[in-house]
Amino acid sequence: MALRRLENKLETFDWTNPDTGQKIKLGEQAEKDIFINPEYISLDLIKLLSLSRIGDYIGQGSEGQVYLYDDGCRKMAIKKYKMPGSSGISQFRCLRKIRLLGFEAPEVYAASEETLVMDYVPHNNLAKYLFSLKDEKKASAINRLWIEFMRRIESKIYEETLDSSISNGYIKPTANGSWFDVLDQG
Ligand SMILES: Nc1ncnc2c1ncn2[C@@H]1O[C@H](COP(=O)(O)OP(=O)(O)OP(=O)(O)O)[C@@H](O)[C@H]1O
Ligand SMILES: [Mg+2]
Repeated sequence: MALRRLENKLETFDWTNPDTGQKIKLGEQAEKDIFINPEYISLDLIKLLSLSRIGDYIGQGSEGQVYLYDDGCRKMAIKKYKMPGSSGISQFRCLRKIRLLGFEAPEVYAASEETLVMDYVPHNNLAKYLFSLKDEKKASAINRLWIEFMRRIESKIYEETLDSSISNGYIKPTANGSWFDVLDQG
């Protein structure tokens, strides 16, 4: 399967959902390098992107830190990338597509290259969960299911470069046991 890395160009935000044929604008360009989810234009997201002091620290990744922000209505996770010219915008686009395809993933609200604003996911990270399992066979079986799951998503959005790392999944308790879904894309 040919993978084509999309550049952060405005036209890459025009997307046709391969399942429904529906044409969708994934993001509105609010300022030069700021994209907003068209469904949340009314939220004061530009201000949020520029905040330096945010909220509680959630965790550290290789690309930067993630913080919790509570606007009173919803809890958001704000990812601050440490390198200029980072992938906030392509991760925004990728997560929007994953969610619009019907997979469970946090809603993304806005992005610049250095910041991504999304829903806070209150569940355990899949990587942490698998490392804590005593049963290695169970852990590798779940790992295989995760890889198949990510391949299914990738086959629908082959134009994006997905990050299938288990640290980008979460495990969620359901009525029939637990299941995993996509946490983020980086
Ligand atoms: N939307 C979210 N809701 C809750 N926690 C999140 C969210 N996004 C990321 N996190 C948490 O923030 C921490 C850092 O995540 P980040 O995506 O930056 O790095 P990573 O995926 O763990 O690792 P790497 O950067 O090496 O791929 C992790 O503990 C992750 O579980
Ligand atoms: Mg991640």
